[in-house]
Amino acid sequence: MEHLTERDNLGPSRQMASAMAETLDGQRQRWDARYRGLTPAPRPAAVLRHFAHLVPTTGSAVDLACGLGGNALWLAQRGLDVRAWDLSAVAIDQLRAAAAQLRLPVAAEARDLIAHPPESGRFDVIAVVRFLDRDLAPKIVAALRPGGLLFYETFTRESVDGRGPRDPAFRLAPNELLDLFRGLVVRGYREEGRLADPASGLGDLALMVAEKAR
Ligand SMILES: C[S@@+](CC[C@H](N)C(=O)[O-])C[C@H]1O[C@@H](n2cnc3c(N)ncnc32)[C@H](O)[C@@H]1O
Repeated sequence: MEHLTERDNLGPSRQMASAMAETLDGQRQRWDARYRGLTPAPRPAAVLRHFAHLVPTTGSAVDLACGLGGNALWLAQRGLDVRAWDLSAVAIDQLRAAAAQLRLPVAAEARDLIAHPPESGRFDVIAVVRFLDRDLAPKIVAALRPGGLLFYETFTRESVDGRGPRDPAFRLAPNELLDLFRGLVVRGYREEGRLADPASGLGDLALMVAEKAR
């Protein structure tokens, strides 16, 4: 996805939404407008590319705040039975059409994750890419089955190419993903910050794979 504004990248915690004076309907409309006319394709995010060898090939997965669902399609291609949820009905319609065309098992649903977080003990794999709502973290942990894996990627405060939200409050502090998900066992982590080669595309991101105890 192209460079994103701070509102574009943030999860919609109620606190943040009110601080930004943007209603849920406003967010939905903004995302709908952004996605209209775009076509999804299976395209894994960095956390899935870099840790592809850790992604299971069977089981149940969900892509939270999936947008057009490139990650969901890729997970389904890999063999997982995938749910994909996003606020934007436009994105969900596009994703449903793409999944049908590709004959991939992706059940896409327009869903406000804050009002309707994932059910407990439900998923073998959870993917969250470029969406941050800190209050959702405990519910994500609860939604993993024992042995389930979380693949999380979002923007950090340290930045080499200025992508993502400008307000540091809306980016991860150093090692913050490790704190947010300290109930899980970390299996893979990258957060190169200003040490990153700008050409790598990793300089603005934290990538984490973490496992729920069996
Ligand atoms: C930066 S996009 C990331 C999309 C996708 N994960 C990707 O990497 O391409 C953030 C997404 O969060 C979604 N979103 C925002 N608030 C949401 C909410 N309350 N519930 C579900 N999705 C939400 C937006 O519709 C948008 O698609």
